[in-house]
Amino acid sequence: MGPGLWLGSHRRATAASTLLFMPALSESQIMRIGILTGGGDCPGLNAVIRGATRAAEVTYDSTVIGFRNAWRGVMDNDYEILDVDRCRGILPLGGTILGTSRDQPFAHEDGLKRVRKAYDRHGLDAIIGVGGEGSMGVVNRLHENGFPVIGVPKTIDNDISLTEMTFGFQTAVQICTDAIDRLHTTAESHHRVLVVEVMGRHVGHIAIWSGLAGGAAITLVPEEPFDIDEVCERIVHRHKKGRFATIVVVAEGAVPKAGTMEIPAPEIDKYGHQILGGIGSILAREIQGRTGIESRMTALGHIQRGGSPVAFDRVLGTRFGVAAVEAALDGAWGQMVALQKGRIERVPVADAVGTLKTVEPDLLRLNAMFQPRIPGDEHPGLPADAPTPMEH
Ligand code: F6P
Repeated sequence: MGPGLWLGSHRRATAASTLLFMPALSESQIMRIGILTGGGDCPGLNAVIRGATRAAEVTYDSTVIGFRNAWRGVMDNDYEILDVDRCRGILPLGGTILGTSRDQPFAHEDGLKRVRKAYDRHGLDAIIGVGGEGSMGVVNRLHENGFPVIGVPKTIDNDISLTEMTFGFQTAVQICTDAIDRLHTTAESHHRVLVVEVMGRHVGHIAIWSGLAGGAAITLVPEEPFDIDEVCERIVHRHKKGRFATIVVVAEGAVPKAGTMEIPAPEIDKYGHQILGGIGSILAREIQGRTGIESRMTALGHIQRGGSPVAFDRVLGTRFGVAAVEAALDGAWGQMVALQKGRIERVPVADAVGTLKTVEPDLLRLNAMFQPRIPGDEHPGLPADAPTPMEH
């Protein structure tokens, strides 16, 4: 059944259930739109909820129904009607007023049936699913099953394809940068190596941005497996030259080059996600053991996702929320809103899932240029025929 057909039959099925479950809908109302936030929380989620609710209520005479704890709320009929009053004051709040979970309909035998029931019960014309890579996969599968859905990409990891940026990323980068600034002063006082482990799953956007912004000596990312001997050589060389403190930023998903160092395989949670974290401790231990320089580790963990979103993330979240409602009004099912060349566009969610957006080559090149040089580096980070960073 195609999305159009589904919407039609759902509209017909709505009348009876309206009497039983739905709050009164004025004659003129255009749409009833569900919204939910799934996956890890992320600064800017409340901006999306507020943006969608205000656009729906004030501009488009529509209603937004917020489902609690992602698809679990849809399946369990746990919801609240959102309006401008409910969304007052939430713009600067971190987390999500709707709560979140990694639960999803395809993890349950009767999941799709329960989702269909939610559409009928609430007279929904659409559900806006706000989430990361995994959640966009769910939105895509629901679209393939004929449900009218719209995707909004969110993640501090900034790893979703076809959108230049996700909200939450800039906040996480700022939190990491502030932490690195603080760690500089203690590293320098104690003449230590301080390893800072940051999030990002299988990509190094947070690590590269915060490493560059915080002036880390070395930044290790999943895109470029590291050689521990080379890392130690760079640190020793730097300290011999009179620098007695070093900040090493490591992405939680960074891995050593094959055959150079053993690391334990990550645990898997009940939804099949790898639970990352721990590479920072391993690295600090190795660096201290191999160089004799006192080394410590700080894992920033969930602090990176906490607290108030920076202005950029509030604005991007607001733009995405409004754009998602407008996509629903246009019946653009199976589309994800995205930031492209500074504008909000729509892309098929199917095209955005499956491939992670990795760190751009020019940022990897910058990262290599700013690490401590060792003998043998002809031109750090640059192949002989590469343009200088300003020439691209
Ligand atoms: O995807 C966002 C993220 O914060 C990752 O950077 C991290 O690996 C993961 O979520 C942690 O998930 P959880 O909140 O389940 O520990």
